[in-house]
Amino acid sequence: MGQQGPDGTTRQDQHGQGRLLPGDGTVDLAAHLDLHGPPPFSDGRPGAVSLIDQVDKAGLTGRGGAGFPTGRKLRAVVEAGRRGGAMHSQVGTVVVANGAESEPASRKDRQLLSQSPHLVLDGMVLAAEAVGATRTYLCVHAAAPGGAVQGGGPPREALGGPLREAVVSRERSGLNRVPIQVVEIPGGYVSSQETALVNLINGGRAVPTFVPPRPAVRGAHKRPTLVQNVETLANIALIARYGADWFRQAGDAEAPGTALVTVSGAVTSPGVYEVDLGSRVTDLISLAGGPAADPQAVLAGGYFGGWLPMQALAGLRLSQPSLRRAGASLGPGVIVLLPAAACPLAETAHAVAYLAGQSAGQCGPCKLGLPVLAECMQRIAFGRPGRDLLGSVQQVFALVAGRGACHLPDSAAGLAAGTLAVFEAEVRRHAEQGPCPRVNHPQVLPAPDLVPA
Ligand SMILES: Cc1cc2nc3c(=O)[nH]c(=O)nc-3n(C[C@H](O)[C@H](O)[C@H](O)COP(=O)(O)O)c2cc1C
Ligand code: SF4
Repeated sequence: MGQQGPDGTTRQDQHGQGRLLPGDGTVDLAAHLDLHGPPPFSDGRPGAVSLIDQVDKAGLTGRGGAGFPTGRKLRAVVEAGRRGGAMHSQVGTVVVANGAESEPASRKDRQLLSQSPHLVLDGMVLAAEAVGATRTYLCVHAAAPGGAVQGGGPPREALGGPLREAVVSRERSGLNRVPIQVVEIPGGYVSSQETALVNLINGGRAVPTFVPPRPAVRGAHKRPTLVQNVETLANIALIARYGADWFRQAGDAEAPGTALVTVSGAVTSPGVYEVDLGSRVTDLISLAGGPAADPQAVLAGGYFGGWLPMQALAGLRLSQPSLRRAGASLGPGVIVLLPAAACPLAETAHAVAYLAGQSAGQCGPCKLGLPVLAECMQRIAFGRPGRDLLGSVQQVFALVAGRGACHLPDSAAGLAAGTLAVFEAEVRRHAEQGPCPRVNHPQVLPAPDLVPA
């Protein structure tokens, strides 16, 4: 493995060059091979540096939202495969690439898949080799939702066809060491949760299932299954080629590498930006053309994240650990700036109503609790909230948090409770004076019209 990047200045520089998004258009197979060469398969050579060791050393964490250490997931699948006799056998383990990108304010996976499909496909086959997989699936959403984000990438239905073509184009060069199947998944927000993807591949509905066993132990086709976000897999492809030390040249010690971040709302140039992890959030906003419409707060991490007032951004670093310490999250790389003219309580009420509508309806606390939570948030934003209403939100929070097969209830309850804490003064004003005209501002947070599976 070399230590050099493809051009020495591989992350987003002033010319828009990035490690993951090297230019504006699609990097086809010929251009991809010119830029990076073929994927460095180890072919089980004795003494070959293990890709998993490199991923560990690189400190790569998942880019799908939770930020879990990728090396640990790879090892868990290898170990489960060994225990079940799947490693190096005909049946093997399974790799699932999660490119569904359900988070409504995120466009980075669509941009990555449409611009750098072969980096993701390389990551899939290299990860498959590392964990002994004999089948791989690339999951994307089947239908385009409404609620477009300004500056957002291509619509969802445009992805499946080009990705299948990209897979076929590699076959002649022998780059697909394992079969790659593109799967278009139906439904809404929770259909891209990892157990929902596994359930769908197994012939069921795209709805989450209770764990354990986790997919890493028993997933698709009852085999140990690695589910990894597409950006994580693209990073695996880079680490395999250029090594852990090169990877760590971007980012900081606690969050190495770059991240694709979708910036939207009150900025001059909304879109997807590739930046070093650990860079300043304010620098990212400057990269997106700077603030517009006098922003009052930032939603960091999407609907699993939280609001931060603009003052909280001073010196704040863009990474999962840093944003978590500040009370938000990086999530799948989502930053939404809320203009001063919009009401944060009304925005959150819309988002919580959207999340309640995305419930797969199979877990009691989620099915029964989220509509109550959504109703409370509506009354807080559009009515005159009293102590009873604020108490009800806390009660529902306690009842639903951590009580579903997936984390949808945690997301809705966390967003609601966090909003009431961050915008305490707004809540008081609504309680004393009723809602202000800002509740009529066009909705900033997207709530696409998705039908749950
Ligand atoms: C409701 C819900 C929706 C999710 N949607 C996505 C998604 O669209 N894309 C994604 O990569 N991960 C999504 N996840 C996280 C996946 O379950 C899984 O953790 C992730 O794909 C693992 O990849 P990573 O470790 O590379 O981040 C979702 C999780 C939940 C709870
Ligand atoms: S927690 Fe809600 S969305 Fe998640 S599986 Fe249960 S019912 Fe479905």
